[in-house]
Amino acid sequence: VIIGQEARASHHFSLLDLPSSSGRLDVLLRCLRAALLVSHGLRRDTSVYLVLQGGWGAPRTVRVEGERARFLRPDERSLAMLVRRVLAAPAEGEGFIERHPGVSVAQGGLDQVLADLGQATHYVLEEGAPDVRGQALEGPAPVFYLGDHRGFSVETRAWIAARGAKPIGVGPLSLHSDDALALVVNELDRRDPPGDDGPPRRDERGD
Ligand SMILES: C[S@@+](CC[C@H](N)C(=O)[O-])C[C@H]1O[C@@H](n2cnc3c(N)ncnc32)[C@H](O)[C@@H]1O
Repeated sequence: VIIGQEARASHHFSLLDLPSSSGRLDVLLRCLRAALLVSHGLRRDTSVYLVLQGGWGAPRTVRVEGERARFLRPDERSLAMLVRRVLAAPAEGEGFIERHPGVSVAQGGLDQVLADLGQATHYVLEEGAPDVRGQALEGPAPVFYLGDHRGFSVETRAWIAARGAKPIGVGPLSLHSDDALALVVNELDRRDPPGDDGPPRRDERGD
């Protein structure tokens, strides 16, 4: 669950100047790629939530499900175009509404994510927290909360703490969000490598 404090909840941003016009959606898109996409495929057992807390219509959340997603390209511009397209659809109805195979949008932020998750074990990536390598990461459906370039707001930090999320760290330095996420995902890959259900699905685009 990647939380963009200023990331625009609307499609009104420019692909020519993504970082400043989108409230740093680029940070969230790199996280999306790090969590979901591997070379020539994606992690079927992973879903990513981009919580967009900035600008008009906020908060809204984009959910990308590895199990169902199609036509995801790994470059930031293509991912930005996809997110812009799904955000352009009018906000309507309750819960997540699919706007592209495996890509859905919901009006609402963290509470909406929580309702969608069901039973889960919550972890929060925090600088200075106990190293992920020493942690069991037990429990059903581990969920990881990650801040953007500005970290977490006071309100978000309190919301995450109220979920009983366990803090985990990925080393002694303050990393970019996508790098921190890549390390956690890699840890999960090592502990639970692809099994009988085969390697990650090759995306239909072949990227
Ligand atoms: C660039 S950092 C945020 C820095 C921001 N100045 C702050 O104080 O929170 C972005 C996010 O990456 C994650 N992160 C960065 N380095 C980390 C580390 N060493 N261990 C765990 N998470 C880390 C955290 O979730 C953080 O909110």
